Amino acid sequence: MRQTELPLHRPHVLIARAVFPEAIARLSEHFEVEPNPDDAEWSAVELSRRLGGKIGLLATSGERIDAALLAAHPHLRAVCLMTVGYNNVDVPACTARGVLATNAPGVLTETTADLGFALMMATARRMAEAERFLRSGQWTKWRYDLLTGSDVHGATLGILGMGRIGQAIARRGALGFGMKVIYHNRSRLGAADEAPIGARYVDKATLLRESDHLVLVLPYSASSHHAIAAAELAMMKPTATLTNVARGGIVDDAALAVALRERRIAAAGLDVFENEPTPNPALLELPNVVLLPHIGSATEATRRAMVGCAVDNLVAALTGGTPPTPINPEVLRGPRWANRA
Ligand code: DGY
Repeated sequence: MRQTELPLHRPHVLIARAVFPEAIARLSEHFEVEPNPDDAEWSAVELSRRLGGKIGLLATSGERIDAALLAAHPHLRAVCLMTVGYNNVDVPACTARGVLATNAPGVLTETTADLGFALMMATARRMAEAERFLRSGQWTKWRYDLLTGSDVHGATLGILGMGRIGQAIARRGALGFGMKVIYHNRSRLGAADEAPIGARYVDKATLLRESDHLVLVLPYSASSHHAIAAAELAMMKPTATLTNVARGGIVDDAALAVALRERRIAAAGLDVFENEPTPNPALLELPNVVLLPHIGSATEATRRAMVGCAVDNLVAALTGGTPPTPINPEVLRGPRWANRA
């Protein structure tokens, strides 16, 4: 076959959301690609319809990949996410069917940590509220107590979920701002990771009680649903701030709105919400919450790296290579993937 000739039956893959053109170009070198250039929001039924005849799917954390979808598409072999979070994917169902699932860890760690730290600072120093104050013409003079917030330097930074991003935020706090770092996590870090940032492992109750600025960076799952609800908020200092850059659903947003309104905690910074993209209306009315539209990893370079990671995984999976970041690598040793090329 001459180099310029394409095989007659190239595998078909679906891209669920708009992506950088170079990603479509790279996939098109290997596959027949159905993209979604308008970034249309497909219903579950529409996603399933479009998945017909495809063996690969490039998706985000927004598309629900559940047992029913997998059962309807027995030829599907790989689902590759451009996000690190994969709580939208039923991984056991994928594994049971021999479907490889991949995500994009690592490439967004530092960018998301930047945003998490910035949001924590904006929350502590009331930056969004201050900007609204200025823009609305209310600033008439300097005053000793104008928009006073709380210090970040030297304060106690609490991290719930000490994975890659949690550790990157902790480094910023400890090494850049002289913060004391306490954390709670499913498993304790090794001494080699704790020591450089002086991180102290504590139970969840201590974390809630002692943090001046609590940052949530844990993955969402049934067990982390409403990990921060009314009871947990009641344990926090009335001067504390809460920042969530993890997932909506980890915080009970209705309970948080009550706690903020009643000043049981000082302020919150939220990049993620229950029911995105429609935050709880009670939050929108409060001055002491900084609200961002899920932009934790949103820099041009990082978004390109995330999409690139998903493309690398999909190409490798379907052309006999080694996918770099599998979630369920065990499927590659199963019968469905034997002799792949
Ligand atoms: C991620 O990568 O999980 C981001 O939160 C985008 O969903």
